[in-house]
Amino acid sequence: MTMRLAMKNISRVFDNGKTKHVVLENVGFTIGTGEFVTLLGPSGCGKTTLLNIIAGFLPATGGTITLNDALVTKPGPDRGFIFQDYALFPWMKVKDNILYPMKRLGVPKAEREERLGQLMALAQLQGKENLYPHQLSGGMKQRTAVIRALAARPQVLLMDEPFGAVDFQMRMIMQEEMEALWLKDRTTVLMVTHDVEEAIYLSDRVIVMSSDRGRILEDIRIDLPRPRQRKGDAYHHYEDRLIDLLKTALGTGPAEEARGDSRATVALASAAQCAAEYTGCAPQELAAMGERA
Ligand SMILES: Nc1ncnc2c1ncn2[C@@H]1O[C@H](COP(=O)(O)OP(=O)(O)OP(=O)(O)O)[C@@H](O)[C@H]1O
Ligand SMILES: [Mg+2]
Repeated sequence: MTMRLAMKNISRVFDNGKTKHVVLENVGFTIGTGEFVTLLGPSGCGKTTLLNIIAGFLPATGGTITLNDALVTKPGPDRGFIFQDYALFPWMKVKDNILYPMKRLGVPKAEREERLGQLMALAQLQGKENLYPHQLSGGMKQRTAVIRALAARPQVLLMDEPFGAVDFQMRMIMQEEMEALWLKDRTTVLMVTHDVEEAIYLSDRVIVMSSDRGRILEDIRIDLPRPRQRKGDAYHHYEDRLIDLLKTALGTGPAEEARGDSRATVALASAAQCAAEYTGCAPQELAAMGERA
């Protein structure tokens, strides 16, 4: 199955009544079937904003997104989303976390169970079905989040800094596990990161965004064999090039504004909203499930 995700002239302005903050202006790029694409840019350049617009969690103030020529306006099962903290339901066993999106979509029971088996094998999580998320290692939690997002058979998987919350060594292990899983499944991925090494290790293409209204500085193809090795001249050449680009990306940025408290509040509110949208559940419904557990 082919797929084409196209972002055209995406703009986003945050207007608090007093000041207007243009975070994205006329940002555009396209992703094709089976590509692993990374958005790389300095903190605050608008990566999460852009990903949330693509997911349908946040409206753009200008421009269009199309998935196979259909306009994207709201969240949908065609776009899987993995949050930074994985957002697994802590009160559900691993298997129920994975079955949940399929139940919401009305997939028949026999098919759900079959797909569960396939996904558990894909992520090498057999035997962990009846554990709760807190009983898993960091890598297992991440794999559970990936296969939960894959359960609904999305056309594209959106990931916002999926390895952000772990230490250096664990991060490398998780990147390797991610690559292994992706090599078996080949779902199209759009990932956000500010880590150069991670971008090179995982991506077919790295799109470098600047702090200047999210302007795309370069769209670089990473032409290295898979599975990737973190060494060699070509690898280090990409590293040097991306580090230079990131310096440019930072240098062109406007003074930081509208950060701090308001942003944290927004992040919290949108996390709840996102969890609700992703699962197709009302926030109250999610809260009630938490209480029942
Ligand atoms: N809801 C909002 N209201 C006002 N400003 C916002 C809102 N969301 C984001 N911003 C601002 O938009 C800019 C981009 O934020 P965004 O979270 O997209 O950055 P990022 O590239 O993901 O950064 P990081 O790498 O730190 O996660 C920031 O200056 C931020 O303060
Ligand atoms: Mg972000």
